[in-house]
Amino acid sequence: MEKIKIFSEITVYNNVDELPEDVKKLMEQAVAIREMAYAPYSHFRVGAALKLDNGIVVTGNNQENAAYPSGMCAERVAIWAAGSQYPDNKILQMAITARSENHTLNQPVPPCGACRQAIAEYEIKQDKNIEIYFMGEVGKVYKAESLHDLLPLIFDGSDL
Ligand code: THU
Repeated sequence: MEKIKIFSEITVYNNVDELPEDVKKLMEQAVAIREMAYAPYSHFRVGAALKLDNGIVVTGNNQENAAYPSGMCAERVAIWAAGSQYPDNKILQMAITARSENHTLNQPVPPCGACRQAIAEYEIKQDKNIEIYFMGEVGKVYKAESLHDLLPLIFDGSDL
C-alpha cells in the first residue's frame, strides 16, 4: 500500500484589474454574455468566454428549463459552440463569471464537475492546456493553468 499526493496550483488575482489586459477583455466578454443568461429559475447567471488560437472569442451562458435537468451550464454551452463551429482550432483560454440575483458573489465560482469533464475532453483532444480563469461577480479571480488543476485523475478516452 502507498499513498500518493496530487498537486494542483491556482494563481489568485485580487480583482479583474490585476489580470493581463487581454484576459481582462475576455472576462468582460464573459460578464456581458452572463447578463444574457436565461436563468428564470435559479436567478443565478453564468457567462463563459473562450479564446481560440485564431483569435476568435466564443461565448455562452446558462440556459435553464422548466424541466430542470434539461437546462445547461454556461461552460458547456460555450465549449460545445466552439467545438461545433471551430473543430480544428485550439481553445487557449476560458473566462467564467457568475452573478446571483439574491446575493453578491464575491468569491470565485468554479465550473461544476460535469463542466470540468466536458472541458477535459477538449483539452485532451487538442493536446494543449486550457487556461481557466473564474470569478464571482466581484473580487478575486482564480486562474488554473490547465483543466488538470481542477480535475485530477481525469477519466478520458484512453481508458475505453
Ligand atoms: N451553472 C453554470 O452555468 N455553470 C456551472 O458551472 C454551475 C452552475 C448554472 C446552471 C444553472 O442554470 C444555475 O447555474 C444554477 O445551478
